[in-house]
Amino acid sequence: MARPQARYACQQCGTVHAKWTGRCEGCGAWNSLIEEQPREGPPSGLGKRSLGKERRSGNSVGFVGLTGPTMLPSRRATGIAEFDRVCGGGFVAGSAILVGGDPGIGKSTLLLQAGAAIAAQTSAAYITGEEAIDQVRLRAERLGVAGSSVLLAATSNIRDIIASLDRDDAPDLVVVDSIQTMYLDTLDSAPGTVSQVRGAAQELIRVAKRRGFVLILVGHVTKEGVIAGPRVLEHMVDTVLYFEGERGHRFRILRAVKNRFGATDEIGVFEMSEHGLIEVPNPSALFLSGRAAPGTEDEPVGSGGDQLSGSAVFAGMEGTRPVLVEIQALVAPAVLGTPRRAVVGWDGTRLAMITAVLDARCGLSLGANDIYLNVAGGLRIVEPAADLAVAAALVSALTETPVPGDTVVFGEIALSGDIRPVGHTEARLKEAAKLGFGAAWMPMRQSRAPARSRVGDARLDIMAVGHLKEVVARLSPAEPYRRGFREIAQ
Ligand code: TYD
Ligand code: MG
Repeated sequence: MARPQARYACQQCGTVHAKWTGRCEGCGAWNSLIEEQPREGPPSGLGKRSLGKERRSGNSVGFVGLTGPTMLPSRRATGIAEFDRVCGGGFVAGSAILVGGDPGIGKSTLLLQAGAAIAAQTSAAYITGEEAIDQVRLRAERLGVAGSSVLLAATSNIRDIIASLDRDDAPDLVVVDSIQTMYLDTLDSAPGTVSQVRGAAQELIRVAKRRGFVLILVGHVTKEGVIAGPRVLEHMVDTVLYFEGERGHRFRILRAVKNRFGATDEIGVFEMSEHGLIEVPNPSALFLSGRAAPGTEDEPVGSGGDQLSGSAVFAGMEGTRPVLVEIQALVAPAVLGTPRRAVVGWDGTRLAMITAVLDARCGLSLGANDIYLNVAGGLRIVEPAADLAVAAALVSALTETPVPGDTVVFGEIALSGDIRPVGHTEARLKEAAKLGFGAAWMPMRQSRAPARSRVGDARLDIMAVGHLKEVVARLSPAEPYRRGFREIAQ
């Protein structure tokens, strides 16, 4: 019998090639092809052979209408509110969740805490292929959950794991840390390769569906920020969560990027402490920490003078929750030929667009300057509503005129320089008022905006901005601007 021919699978995108090449034709990645032996037969039931047989003797499918008795999925909440919200209100029985994140960010910590929380209600198992039992026990002690009834196992053999889980009394939650260490002995390739990761995940997900337990897979993230190995893993699971944060910061953010059972724009905010992850129910205070509280005349730290120029507080939304976050900009004359653009926590293309609008529509040229833009606290902002706050920080940095410390800013900038309205105005203003801010620069509303808007018990001074020029004028020290920007804005 002829030996099955070798094939080469890209470890980035999963494309299969007949020949080895230096560069994957699927995704363009270099050096990502690894030889994989096709398996002789499927490891269990689902391979080509059994599929073929079913196809020959297929049964006709019974179609049904869209209306009919439906059951809402039953959910199990961990009691860790920040985690539950991201999952859409708790784990859905029989679902598979992938938690991705950089090494050392706190995935194992988070999931051991979640496991302990579920074990306190029903039963949970934590299977580690990365650490020894002793290490996990030490961590449990540190987290104060050593007394919990979590079932612990250190193995990476999928066959053994399946044998232990494919039974009536399977635990309600199973954490597998991490999927890259798991090993299916019916496949030739090494753990962590596309076919291993895919095969192992497939087997685990199938048992989870059959036995109705919640399966949480931990996945490593590569330098490029995608889950190591195949993107296909993201398609196989019901929910994909990313656990992110800056190494130097204590804040960690859990973000849903896919959720078949809930919204994807929610975030959960945690703080890494000596004793594990602590929930942060009020993230605004966190992202603004280090800033002088609005309305107080705090002693400037360090250099003195205009310490706040180049900074603006953005009133943003993360899912259903308003979050205030400081945006910092630094603008300096470029010393080398091509000016640098360094952006942390925001989209570089969007920054290029805003500098272009500032140039073309407001006559403010940043072309010869290096620009550094930073979203404080390690948050990553994707909302276009941050445009105006970014522009305000840039202009403020350039003119060395601070945005008033008690002001929040939000609004989307169009290519014409007009400021477009954004959603959730009330929620943004309310959060600002709650944290003691006294003013807001925001898009003009459709209806006539009152100069002072009552939000809850507090009052906010509203500057309704129609065009970006008005913000430039407000932040420009030159005499004609001082007299009020309306005139120069025609
Ligand atoms: P870990 O959960 O092992 O990360 P991952 O599984 O994502 O690789 O977390 C490791 C880091 O968290 C490590 O640098 C130590 C820190 N840590 C704390 O600061 N406090 C704690 O209570 C624990 C358990 C970990
Ligand atoms: Mg870990």
